[in-house]
Amino acid sequence: MKGIQIVSTGKALPEEIITNDDLSRIVDTSDEWITTRTGIKKRYRCRQENTTSLAVNAARNAVKQADINTDDIGAVIVATSTAENAFPSTAAIVQKELGLSENVLAFDLSSACTGFLHALNVGHALLNSTDYKYILLIGSEQMSKIIDYTDRSTCVLFGDGAGAVLIKADDNMYEQINYTRGNEDVLVCKGLGAQDAYVQMNGNAVFRFAVDVLKQGIDEILKKSDMTIADIDYIVCHQANERIINHVKKKYPGHEDKFYVNIAEYGNTSAASIPIALDELAEKGCLNKGRKLILAGFGAGLSWSCALIET
Ligand code: ACO
Repeated sequence: MKGIQIVSTGKALPEEIITNDDLSRIVDTSDEWITTRTGIKKRYRCRQENTTSLAVNAARNAVKQADINTDDIGAVIVATSTAENAFPSTAAIVQKELGLSENVLAFDLSSACTGFLHALNVGHALLNSTDYKYILLIGSEQMSKIIDYTDRSTCVLFGDGAGAVLIKADDNMYEQINYTRGNEDVLVCKGLGAQDAYVQMNGNAVFRFAVDVLKQGIDEILKKSDMTIADIDYIVCHQANERIINHVKKKYPGHEDKFYVNIAEYGNTSAASIPIALDELAEKGCLNKGRKLILAGFGAGLSWSCALIET
């Protein structure tokens, strides 16, 4: 099996920024509480934008960075839990707006905060089983539309945004592990037709789940790849709470700086958090050839997934 190469990346964010102080005027909270408990300082919120327009713009930005014939894009996968429509898919609209060939496989994938990792796994499998030259992976979320802005325990955590990554097959390392533990008790958002279609969670239970599976996942992917943490350049975890990442990075003394953290800027953007982080790393010139990254997603399902990729 071949691995994957990141050809280019892009992101898109709404114009409106909501600070912790802004939220403290809506619910009984404070900048101090949010910062110390989560690491979040601000997040973006859609006004004119939505999940579809963010996905389209992130994808457009990724494609702009790549010197390719867009007819060579064989598939578009949008990881999202906040699509505008039950159908058509967000991915179908991306096809239209980017003027991609009709000869493209385009679909949405719903797997909450693990969605981008699952899209990556499907993308990798497609690159190894079809003649697709390029695949566009997008994580796009308008979390603000599934947030109850009277619930201070959830509304401070989330933000809107999208990230996109164009990939192709390459002769480099790729390993991935995926886990699912069906559970509707600790983290749920009801679907179409529900009166209370808002994020509901047991924050403490999610916290414990996250720190457990991140450590387990990182150790397992390292073992599967016959590597140690010293071989890795960056670890990009889903950005749910800085305290979760701080907890995990303490388990890897001497390698704490490899854990990428940008949650202060965006809050938790669910399926978009990892591709947004990858776009930032690319902008900083950190994804030069030969870099080894662990990507670690976790979230509702419950599900978790780790991939080891080489740029
Ligand atoms: N501002 C002020 N006080 C608050 C707020 C707020 N925004 N939210 C909750 N509190 C209060 C609670 O009401 C509680 O008050 P009480 O003691 O009077 O009852 C107190 O703070 C402590 O509440 P806890 O829930 O114990 O606070 P904790 O330190 O666990 O932090 C948090 C809560 C931030 C949600 C944490 O549990 C967490 O991050 N869990 C992970 C959840 C997560 O990341 N979910 C994201 C979605 S899932 C995903 O992306 C994987």
